[in-house]
Amino acid sequence: MSETNQKRGLNRKIFNRIWQGWVRRYRGQLAGTVVLMAFVAATAAAYPLLTKYIFNALADGRAGEVILYAPPIIILLALLKGGALFAQTVQVNKLALRVTTDLQKDMAKSLIEADLSVVTREPAGTFMSRIMNDLNLVREAFVRLANNLVRDALTVIVLIGAMIYLDWLMTLIVMAVYPIAIQPIIRIGNRQRKASGNLQSHMEGVTSLLAETLQGVRMVKAYQMENAEIKRTSVAFDGLFARLVALLTGRAMIDPILEVIGGLAVGGVVALAGWRVANGDMQVGDVIAFITTLIMLVQPVRGIGTLNAVTQEALAAAERILSLLDIPKLITDAPNAKTIQAGKGDKGVISFDKVDFTYGKETALRDVSFTASAGQTVALVGPSGAGKTTIINLLPRFYDVSAGVITVNGQDIRNLTLESLRANIALVSQEAVLFEDTVAANIAFGRPDATDEDIIIAAKDAAAHDFIMALPDAYQTQVGAMGNRLSGGQRQRISIARAMLKDAPILLLDEATAALDAASEKQVQTALERLQKGRTTLVVAHRLATVRNADMILVMEDGGITETGTHDDLIAKDGLYARLCALQFFSDK
Ligand SMILES: Nc1ncnc2c1ncn2[C@@H]1O[C@H](COP(=O)(O)OP(=O)(O)OP(=O)(O)O)[C@@H](O)[C@H]1O
Ligand SMILES: [Mg+2]
Repeated sequence: MSETNQKRGLNRKIFNRIWQGWVRRYRGQLAGTVVLMAFVAATAAAYPLLTKYIFNALADGRAGEVILYAPPIIILLALLKGGALFAQTVQVNKLALRVTTDLQKDMAKSLIEADLSVVTREPAGTFMSRIMNDLNLVREAFVRLANNLVRDALTVIVLIGAMIYLDWLMTLIVMAVYPIAIQPIIRIGNRQRKASGNLQSHMEGVTSLLAETLQGVRMVKAYQMENAEIKRTSVAFDGLFARLVALLTGRAMIDPILEVIGGLAVGGVVALAGWRVANGDMQVGDVIAFITTLIMLVQPVRGIGTLNAVTQEALAAAERILSLLDIPKLITDAPNAKTIQAGKGDKGVISFDKVDFTYGKETALRDVSFTASAGQTVALVGPSGAGKTTIINLLPRFYDVSAGVITVNGQDIRNLTLESLRANIALVSQEAVLFEDTVAANIAFGRPDATDEDIIIAAKDAAAHDFIMALPDAYQTQVGAMGNRLSGGQRQRISIARAMLKDAPILLLDEATAALDAASEKQVQTALERLQKGRTTLVVAHRLATVRNADMILVMEDGGITETGTHDDLIAKDGLYARLCALQFFSDK
């Protein structure tokens, strides 16, 4: 009992939020639609009344009168009802689409603005499924709710009114039968909610599985894992099949139940009516009108009967939609956040002071302290998993420190506006991230106001101009999905041009040349050196040759800094760095 109350409270909360947040703003249109629906419902009453008149008049021998008046009235009525029904259906669909499109926009916004840790925790397919599939369920439910709850309910009221007018006693008997149908239908509805929830979360899994398989298709082929992938997807689709069958079977039970109940009612009415006509309590026209009404009732009652099931399915989806919208945002501007300030000599001074960091449970950084003065290049070296990328991630506040303080120009980065902080940082990472657009647009990413000239200068500085000019449409060439029409080195030089154009005082380079062959590495390296000029740079590199000229080298091991100094200092120290250098020198030979 208390569980159902709790569920009811939750349902009301979900309804309220959807109403307040996304439907209320369209209440004017909604009211207009309800008026159209009321009109459609009202026309329903005209048919039983007309039937009664026609058949009683025919029985009385007034055929001439019927032939004269009835057909034009019926045709006019049908035209009016048809017109109103069309307008109402279009209105409801439009409204549902408006509401769900707004929801989709908000969901996408919520995801794009969410903390990096949230978005990267689950595969992208999961979120896509929620935005597309769950929302579709909500849209369907919105249409059904509007049609069934308002139009059909009004129609039922109007028709029952007509029945009472025709014969109140028989109406009472019919009304006594219908509630029996409600119990099993409610039970089915509750089962549908569970089935729908199951289906939707399985759908998320299938979507992300497909996305993963297609994205990794090169590897799948290279490792000849086609059969394994085909098996994996086929198992996933079988799961989808089973869940869909369960859902649709539940849905399929509702109509037959209503059909049987309807049959019972019509049977009973015919028996009763025959007896009442024989007794002279009813005329033939009344009986035909009554049965007509009863048959007209079947469709809207069916609509209302399936309503609970539809609503429950949609509530399961709405819950998941709202949970996506409610993703908490931890990395936000502090209430009194300031824009970044730079004095004369401190343009881009970075300082880590006793910084600890954990990803969930795993400690990635412990007690990290260092300072990079304006314009200096600080290199981070150390074995895989040492925490180098983590340091890079903390500076633009992709994550916040667990303890300690990071400052830029002496200001705690948590007290700066994210916008001004990130405006001061340019990032080039190992895999160049390009978007499906032109070369020019990809370079101007982050600086949409850049002129063609700016873009060309940046490309020249990044040693990208020549290869871009050799492309079929030069700067207007489409790079393909994720830049797949360009080589790795070309992509990387475009992302360096992007950083050049951003012209930020702080530069973060995370293995920017690691994915490249020796020839393109050399080109990219030259471009990077130009980019580093006059900027405070944190550079992560496995190739120690590229960090040799750094002003300071931080050697990291297991989340901590174990050695600090210039290349010469560290070689003289003969510690980990010297060992790593010797190893690489060896392998480079
Ligand atoms: N998103 C994450 N969630 C949980 N743990 C993470 C995450 N990213 C990194 N880690 C962990 O934090 C530690 C440091 O990772 P980090 O990426 O900083 O290493 P790295 O020095 O950049 O290594 P590499 O040279 O291989 O790039 C590792 O133990 C890693 O397992
Ligand atoms: Mg790394």
